[in-house]
Amino acid sequence: MTQMSSSDVPSMGRRQFMNLLTFGSATGVALGALYPVSQFFTPLRASGGGGGTTAKDELGNAVTASGWLSKHPSGDRSLVQGLKGDPTYLIVDGDDAIGSFGLNAICTHLGCVVPWNSGANKFICPCHGSQYDTNGKVVRGPAPLSLALAHINIDDDNVFVSQWEETDFRTGDKPWWI
Ligand code: FES
Repeated sequence: MTQMSSSDVPSMGRRQFMNLLTFGSATGVALGALYPVSQFFTPLRASGGGGGTTAKDELGNAVTASGWLSKHPSGDRSLVQGLKGDPTYLIVDGDDAIGSFGLNAICTHLGCVVPWNSGANKFICPCHGSQYDTNGKVVRGPAPLSLALAHINIDDDNVFVSQWEETDFRTGDKPWWI
């Protein structure tokens, strides 16, 4: 029977460690390679007949315009899961319709989710007090930028969120979020 010398123990440990590293990198590469493939094979319907991502409620169910409007009155700003699952405000406008733009609720200061304060008619960040107006335009720092915009499209009662790539109508600037 072969005796293992004590000097082999650290070398085995090193080899196993290297194996782990190799496996980890290979897994990382494989996952990285899979990502665009999985994006490519996402069913068209899930990523939007109206273009974009289906808005989902807090339980992950697809939001319908009629269902949303039955629970959310004019002026309401409430959250759905939007692009990449980001919390995104749908705005019910004065015509009892869902507005054509939504607001990403992530504060542009350090990333807290900013709640809508209907009493103050503003979004007020609980973390460091930044404020945004009804359209998500920053009106008080320390947040340096307005909330990101997203397009909202209704198609056959389904609500879709898509990237806003045009000029930011609140500032006249190019979108900072793309
Ligand atoms: Fe919103 Fe700092 S994270 S003000």
